[in-house]
Amino acid sequence: MPIPVRLRVNDTDREHVIEPRVLLVHYLRDLCGLTGTHVGCETGICGACTVLVDGQAVKSCTLFAVQADGASVTTIEGVGNGHLHPVQQGFWDCHGLQCGYCTPGMIMASIHLLAQNPSPTRAEIAEGLRGNLCRCTGYSHIIDAVAQASAAGEVARG
Ligand code: FES
Ligand code: FES
Repeated sequence: MPIPVRLRVNDTDREHVIEPRVLLVHYLRDLCGLTGTHVGCETGICGACTVLVDGQAVKSCTLFAVQADGASVTTIEGVGNGHLHPVQQGFWDCHGLQCGYCTPGMIMASIHLLAQNPSPTRAEIAEGLRGNLCRCTGYSHIIDAVAQASAAGEVARG
């Protein structure tokens, strides 16, 4: 039976009546139109669907939308405020993407990582992003991107 769910998504209050089985990733993509959150596996492995839920990095295919009722959710569309977020700038400058499929989730996980540890070592960046898979880049440029954002010294938004 459909039930109401209220979330704050990218600083906008949303209310929908949905089936309890709807995953958060499908709520964001299909009901909110936020298709920057990608679906790579739907089994919690690839990290392409990573968003922030109350500031925590969450794979949104592992959560029903109703489980996030009342939470504040940030997607890739919500991080820039009309300009590139420092982590996005890092990916741009350091060629941290190729096909780009993993990139939104990788950036959201990186923002969470820098919120937890503003000055990570390269090993800590690699460890922090271990739940996000990339088939293209070999990860080195992704680590460069996060290191650049860290060096910029700007507080990552969570
Ligand atoms: Fe969610 Fe792969 S689509 S972890
Ligand atoms: Fe293609 Fe990461 S850039 S999967």
